[in-house]
Amino acid sequence: MSKKRIVVLSGAGVSAESGISTFRDSGGLWEKYDIMEVATFEAWTRNQALVMDFYNQRRKQLYEVEPNAAHYALVKLEEQFDVQIITQNVDDLHERAGSKNVMHLHGELKKVRSSVDEDLVYELDGWELKKGDTCEKGSQLRPHIVWFGEPVPMIPPAAELCSTADIMIIIGTSLNVYPAASLVGYVPDYCHVYLIDPAEVNVAHIPGVTVIREKAGKGTAELVNKLLNE
Ligand code: APR
Repeated sequence: MSKKRIVVLSGAGVSAESGISTFRDSGGLWEKYDIMEVATFEAWTRNQALVMDFYNQRRKQLYEVEPNAAHYALVKLEEQFDVQIITQNVDDLHERAGSKNVMHLHGELKKVRSSVDEDLVYELDGWELKKGDTCEKGSQLRPHIVWFGEPVPMIPPAAELCSTADIMIIIGTSLNVYPAASLVGYVPDYCHVYLIDPAEVNVAHIPGVTVIREKAGKGTAELVNKLLNE
């Protein structure tokens, strides 16, 4: 009997209890920074130092935080299920907790890439990317992040994955950002969707969804125990 497939769609809320700020909560990142100043290609061309520093500070923090109970609960799920994680997050906490299959829709904070050849992607050594750090073709390295307005190349494989889900678990995302938020529309009719979030999230477009109004740590652990004991 092959294992049932669980597809997880995670957002910033899954890392909140690790101490990483979300974007749209009060006190969130987009309250402190203007997206147009730090998270677009135009910002990178206009003020490279500011954008470089914005990602350096977030990367530096990433070395100081740990996965939380939610990340570890998803690893436990792998005992009985084929767990495929699709994350909007650029942190590596799912991987550090031990999740085997993690797909990053919006890039990865610990990676950098060539400004002239997007296929040249490198693990950054340490937290600081500096002006003058160049790729093998001599161009300035940039954060390996999908900025607003840039294409999201992982959407087709992510949509394909969602179309094979027996269960989908959505954790810690306001479902505000497209195309990531559209992925829930690709699951088969028989797929049961769970959504874990302490706040109200608009789920009107998700038929039959089970909403768990909890923080990720508690809510994910409870759901995983339920699924492992069904
Ligand atoms: N546990 C679970 N969910 C939480 C917690 C928590 N402890 N704390 C906050 N949340 C929820 C919030 O209620 C909200 O629904 O996490 C969600 C965070 O939403 P956003 O800040 O919008 O983050 P996200 O949905 O991941 O943003 C998507 O937007 O800025 C871009 O590229 C960036 O990947 C990001 C994308």
